[in-house]
Amino acid sequence: MSQQPAGGEAAAAPGGPDACHVIVLAAGQGRRMGGIRPKVLHRLAGPTLIGHVLRAAATLAPASTTVVVGHQADAVVQAIGPGPRFVRQAPQLGTAHALLQAEPVLAGCAGSLVVLSGDVPRIRPDTLRRLAAAHAAAGAAATVLTAELPRPFGYGRVVRIDGRFGRIVEETEATPAQRAIREVNSGIYVFDLVPLFEALRRIPAAGPRRERYLPAVLSLYRRQGLAVETVGAGDPHEIRGINSQTELAEVSRIMRQNKNEELMAAGVTIEDPATTYIDDAVRVGPDTVIHPGVTLEGNTTIGARCELHSGVRIANSAVGDDVTVNNFCVITGAQVDAGGRIGPFAHLRPGTVVREAARVGNFVELKKATLGPGSKANHLSYVGDATVGAGVNVGAGTITCNYDGESKHRTTVEDGAFIGSGTQLVAPVTIGRGAYVAAGSCVTRDVPPEALAVARSRQDNKPDWATRRRRR
Ligand code: UD1
Ligand code: CA
Repeated sequence: MSQQPAGGEAAAAPGGPDACHVIVLAAGQGRRMGGIRPKVLHRLAGPTLIGHVLRAAATLAPASTTVVVGHQADAVVQAIGPGPRFVRQAPQLGTAHALLQAEPVLAGCAGSLVVLSGDVPRIRPDTLRRLAAAHAAAGAAATVLTAELPRPFGYGRVVRIDGRFGRIVEETEATPAQRAIREVNSGIYVFDLVPLFEALRRIPAAGPRRERYLPAVLSLYRRQGLAVETVGAGDPHEIRGINSQTELAEVSRIMRQNKNEELMAAGVTIEDPATTYIDDAVRVGPDTVIHPGVTLEGNTTIGARCELHSGVRIANSAVGDDVTVNNFCVITGAQVDAGGRIGPFAHLRPGTVVREAARVGNFVELKKATLGPGSKANHLSYVGDATVGAGVNVGAGTITCNYDGESKHRTTVEDGAFIGSGTQLVAPVTIGRGAYVAAGSCVTRDVPPEALAVARSRQDNKPDWATRRRRR
């Protein structure tokens, strides 16, 4: 389905001569990454590389957004989800060839086209705005975002003639003198749409892989006397491309460091920033203390004055104020309200809600379960598909037997109930308000409010049995 728009939008994009369209090049395999996962689907501080790029692009409020996919196109399209439209590039014959694949969806459009690289994830919205504004103000055919890098290795170098843009020379083709140039091509450009596709068709194959290089369009424009301008990126880090696992790790480290510094500036104590991994989107309230080796992922919120001990991982969860999470807890897709105490060694799985001042102790697993205000499940329990009310004591070793091999069933424990240690609650079952369940019970029928349920066989003591046995 090469060159087919796959995103539901009409083939011709809207927008007049002042419209700004966006395209993201994301068809390459990323050979230098090793492995087979498409490069743009690697994660950086939470989102994928392409996710970062699309988020920045959206701030331009473009008339249309197109992503060029190729290597494992279906996986990339699926990971991105709805929003942009997609065009396919197969085989992948270089960045100019990639851009040319968008001709069918952009044909007839006027205005400008912002070209982004799927592997340049840290580009900042204000830089993109500045680039687009400079392009419009100069009325240029193309404007290139450049940056001065202390270590320009691997990037196309900007060759200037009398200070003006001349051309871009790729690392592989640069002379030693050109390799010494520190101004590099970011791989981010704005083009006037009118002459673009005609020019792209004229780019010859070059380099060891016989690819069609997008920067060659800029040389062509210069020869044709069309204006090519440059804009410098404010922060050289923001244009860093990710081509290898080493670069991914380096950029991740920089992002992590920035995130930690931002949180510390806002009053969060991070004992050891080098071992604290906090995704970009995570929010943490002031006076929270984070011990070494904590990971906070995805869409996670941590309140104020919390204490997160070492070895804790929290993903896509909401933690209220004044919560303590002791060592080695895993909390995913869960909610812990103010004053909760969790762990050590607790596992809160998706759908768990721990209400105000409730306590979950060691070796306790909760799944799709609500533990009401002030309730306690302190030791060695599994509570799944359950609603536990306020002020309930879930004794050590209580297990909800929620699965009969085919379906899951719910357990309800009403306010103020007391579940003795070592109890099995065979769902569906309800323990009424204020009821007691004797330790060691296997509860298979509902227990009325205020009742005592004893569901175990009676104890039979045989006097002097041991003495007689020893005599035998
Ligand atoms: C490119 C630029 C280089 C610039 C650098 C900045 C070219 C020839 N070189 O080099 O001047 O300094 O970016 O990061 O453009 N892609 C496709 N289809 C293809 C080839 C690539 O969609 O056939 C996509 C890739 O998925 C990637 C982007 O284009 O997202 C850039 O490709 P990449 O191979 O990483 O180019 P660089 O060698 O980094
Ligand atoms: Ca690259």
